Amino acid sequence: MFFTPEISLRRRSAALFLILGTVFLFLVGGTSAYTDVRTGADPTVMRVGSNYYSAESAEGGIWVRESPTLEGLGRPTQRKKVWSDNLGAVWAPEISMEGGRTWIHFAAGDDHRMYAISADSPLGDYPGSATKVSLPDDRWAIDAVMFTFDGQRYLVWSGWEGTDNVEQNLYIARMSSPTQATGARYIISQPREPWESVRDGSNPLINEGPEAIVDPNGQLHIVYSANGSWGPKYCLADLRLKKGGDPTNVWDWYKSNGCLFGSHQENMMPGWDTTLGIDGPGHHTFALPNGDVNASPGGTDHIPFMFHGVAKGTTYSWENRHWYTGSFVWWSDTKYSRKDVPGDTENVGYSFKFFEA
Ligand SMILES: *[C@@H]1O[C@H](CO)[C@@H](O)[C@H](O)[C@H]1NC(C)=O
Repeated sequence: MFFTPEISLRRRSAALFLILGTVFLFLVGGTSAYTDVRTGADPTVMRVGSNYYSAESAEGGIWVRESPTLEGLGRPTQRKKVWSDNLGAVWAPEISMEGGRTWIHFAAGDDHRMYAISADSPLGDYPGSATKVSLPDDRWAIDAVMFTFDGQRYLVWSGWEGTDNVEQNLYIARMSSPTQATGARYIISQPREPWESVRDGSNPLINEGPEAIVDPNGQLHIVYSANGSWGPKYCLADLRLKKGGDPTNVWDWYKSNGCLFGSHQENMMPGWDTTLGIDGPGHHTFALPNGDVNASPGGTDHIPFMFHGVAKGTTYSWENRHWYTGSFVWWSDTKYSRKDVPGDTENVGYSFKFFEA
């Protein structure tokens, strides 16, 4: 740990954009300026009252942790196994809340289908058996996240178009309940940009870990993870819904022109810098109040969030992934551009600058 108050590190990180001369100072201080929470991947956190609650898959089941601080989730005040059964392997639970009820969506089984459990509080009594989430086309799916935007409940997830493992796309569906889709699934992102899917003939190409948040202008964003979770090119990128856009219309979504949080400069959006101490950051969580995108934080201060990655100097492997706390600021007037598709070729609005501290 670097013995400088967090606030001064933040000032340094802000200064990076103003004075080139501070870059060296930042590098010296910045390399160790991150907070390792625990060994693990795919963090999902929400804040309820004065506590944070996370979910994780372990020992064939799902566990919930409680802590008054985000960093404290590594040594929680409570940790409880809330569910397990014989569905097989369990991946990437996502915790959210609706009408005061806690929901955990997760993928399970060899065929990777989505399931959900719920309880009247984050550490409450969940049913012994999970409900299979009924999704259009019933394909391979992971990382499903539930949220309500403009009064409509949605589920967004990473899945396959067909039955072959060639591309993990992001899909969205309107939901009539937390476990029942209504209407079709709609593709909103494919790993097709050069910075998110260097086409060297290897499969699959990846868009996953979608997380919804609403910016200070009331626009919906889905920040997702690109490239493979098994390599250091894993990174975060953004989909911004145009003002008044329809979340199920792919052309209403504008994608960042590169990674916004990543460790390889050639894949970053122009003007965005790489991480200093952590390789391949991804599968983050915004730790929203009550897991509710409508309570998304605004303002100009650094906002805490959590992500996973691998400490630089360590082999990038699934086993070496840790949860880290970081922060982000809303970054206004950011242009995302595209070509050869319907709709406007440019969209200007909020984006993100992510920090390891
Ligand atoms: C990630 O990027 C590397 C090279 O930059 C590439 O070789 C690899 O195929 C990419 N992986 C995925 C899943 O896109």
